[in-house]
Amino acid sequence: MISSYNTREITVNGEKFEILIDEAEIQKRVVELGEQISNDYQGSIPIFIGVLNGSVIFFADLIRNISINCEVDFLKLSSYGDAKISSGNVKLIKELNADIKDRDVVIVEDIVDTGLSIVYMKGLLKSQNPKSIKVVTLLHKPEATKYDIKLDYVGFQIPNIFVIGYGLDHSQKYRNLRSIYALKST
Ligand code: IMP
Ligand code: MG
Repeated sequence: MISSYNTREITVNGEKFEILIDEAEIQKRVVELGEQISNDYQGSIPIFIGVLNGSVIFFADLIRNISINCEVDFLKLSSYGDAKISSGNVKLIKELNADIKDRDVVIVEDIVDTGLSIVYMKGLLKSQNPKSIKVVTLLHKPEATKYDIKLDYVGFQIPNIFVIGYGLDHSQKYRNLRSIYALKST
């Protein structure tokens, strides 16, 4: 099913975006990540913590590829606002509800850019004494990452470019695109 909204190239506020990773490639990789994580957590019931809003689409696809028992919860951090670059500070907008003490926790991110959000969340969750914390991110921009962070599972490494779709937004829009699109270099 391909709608006119999901073409190879779309124009956003006069800027052209083209497909960087298409729907089929994303789905294939999500299945692989699900299998790998399910294997690594045999004998445990991990809690997957989705980071709102960006990770919702990836989160929903990922947990349907987890073949062991698991639980879910969500955190919400302040966003970039309408800018395309990180503001350099992070605020907590929605706390966790789950009790993560002595639990295996897996943070589920859409994209790691500077790495600040991961540093912030790991600090926050560590203070609640989980048994372990791992991070899965669909996308990673290694060239943009300034913090010393460990990413346990990475879907795709991408260049330091702005991307939208599959949960990722531009001014809160375009999260519903089924592929990931990148700003076209002119
Ligand atoms: P970090 O804290 O700098 O690693 O930024 C992580 C967050 O910034 C992600 O969870 C996204 O919400 C947002 N972000 C980073 N890069 C992009 C992008 O290219 N498109 C859309 N959102 C992005
Ligand atoms: Mg995010």
